[in-house]
Amino acid sequence: MATIDFALSTNANLEDVMIFEATAALSSIAPNHSCRVDPQLAGLVLVTVDRDDAAVRDALCGMRSVLHIVRLTAILDLPQGPDALSQLCAQLDGTAASGSNRLLPDLTRVGQARASFRVCCDRIGTHAFRSVDVERVIGELIHERQGIPGRMKDADVIVRVDVLGNKVVIGEQIHHAELAKKRVHPEFIRDASLRPNVAFAMLHLSGYQPGQFLMDPFVGSGTILLEAAIRFGTRGRFVGMDRSERVVAGARANAASLGLADHVQLVCGNARALHLAARDAKGQVDAIVCNPPWGIRIGKQDDVDDLYRGFLNSAAEMLKTGGRAVVLVIRWESFLQHARCSGRWRVTEARPIRTGDMIPVLFVLERVDDTLWTGIKSGIHRLVVLCREGDGVVAPVASAESTDDAAVSLTRRADHDHDAHNAPEDPSSQRSHRRRVSQ
Ligand SMILES: C[S@@+](CC[C@H](N)C(=O)[O-])C[C@H]1O[C@@H](n2cnc3c(N)ncnc32)[C@H](O)[C@@H]1O
Repeated sequence: MATIDFALSTNANLEDVMIFEATAALSSIAPNHSCRVDPQLAGLVLVTVDRDDAAVRDALCGMRSVLHIVRLTAILDLPQGPDALSQLCAQLDGTAASGSNRLLPDLTRVGQARASFRVCCDRIGTHAFRSVDVERVIGELIHERQGIPGRMKDADVIVRVDVLGNKVVIGEQIHHAELAKKRVHPEFIRDASLRPNVAFAMLHLSGYQPGQFLMDPFVGSGTILLEAAIRFGTRGRFVGMDRSERVVAGARANAASLGLADHVQLVCGNARALHLAARDAKGQVDAIVCNPPWGIRIGKQDDVDDLYRGFLNSAAEMLKTGGRAVVLVIRWESFLQHARCSGRWRVTEARPIRTGDMIPVLFVLERVDDTLWTGIKSGIHRLVVLCREGDGVVAPVASAESTDDAAVSLTRRADHDHDAHNAPEDPSSQRSHRRRVSQ
């Protein structure tokens, strides 16, 4: 039986998520399919099916982890040397001229005759040519050999010639627009916005399930929350924060445009103090999924450390025990160090992925109970209660930015109780008490 090969592409190191999704998508309509990865083809999954019809194509195109899909015609070794591109062209021309064993898609077949086409190229690695050179040279070849007009915009057929290191992957794209591009950004997008397929992969790794409580403390244009609400339905609770009012307004515009305004809560807030913006969320959140600023614009390493530490402390307060945080960071050493030091996180996975020209690391953390931490807190609590009866005992105050405000609030309660107990109190005694408590 004839089989058809499709090549599905995503960001390098997210292939397993794509295989998971493809298997689920094809299980009922093409149960005999197979998926495989080739270590030399980063970001690609090769799927073989025994039929090529609308149902199979719709199932593949409905996948949310994918960037694009081609019906494969060839995977070649890239000729080496400074004239690699002309050699590749000659190789493709040889087979096109003979008409046998085509390496390029046949655009002249019935139903596609006279269609316009465009060649698109993604290139990873160091080469003596650019992506646009590939698009131009192969485009001219197809036009000459098959007599089809090329068109940059709204072409009927897209031929992909992707160069991945020393390999060339060739095929006809089975959809028009890039599958993940802008699907959750109808109104507002930023340079720093995540691609929705990466957002989906992060949600998948977080184990998020429909109906659960999801939080994104660095919400930006809303990619992660909106992707989740679309993919997993609106039964869950979705809360996003950003320190910029303008950005929050942009994310709200995206949510409104997608009909999700009533389902996604977007507020201005600081990721170091999540409890202030979402007071009722403490200990309630099932998953936190986010990408903090890369740190390049934040500047100094101290500021990055400060942000990571503050966020990790605050996020630990928000999550249920056993809840997961999936965080994409570029300054991974610093992030890992803070996650380990806090004692409130177990790092279950860390994988570098490729996004554009960057290689950030995707961390999966599980919120664990730190028995030492909780032991100290309950010890303080017991003593603070005792303080009601005595005087001169001062509860230790948690670090100024810590969102673990239990110790702070206990101290404040002690302050209040003390005031109430001794009322009416002379103002100088109140001042001296506050001085003691805030030391
Ligand atoms: C990399 S972007 C997030 C992009 C987002 N995932 C998207 O797809 O649009 C980081 C965001 O964090 C926000 N931010 C920076 N520091 C913050 C802080 N301390 N608290 C909350 N948000 C912060 C920035 O305003 C920016 O929008």
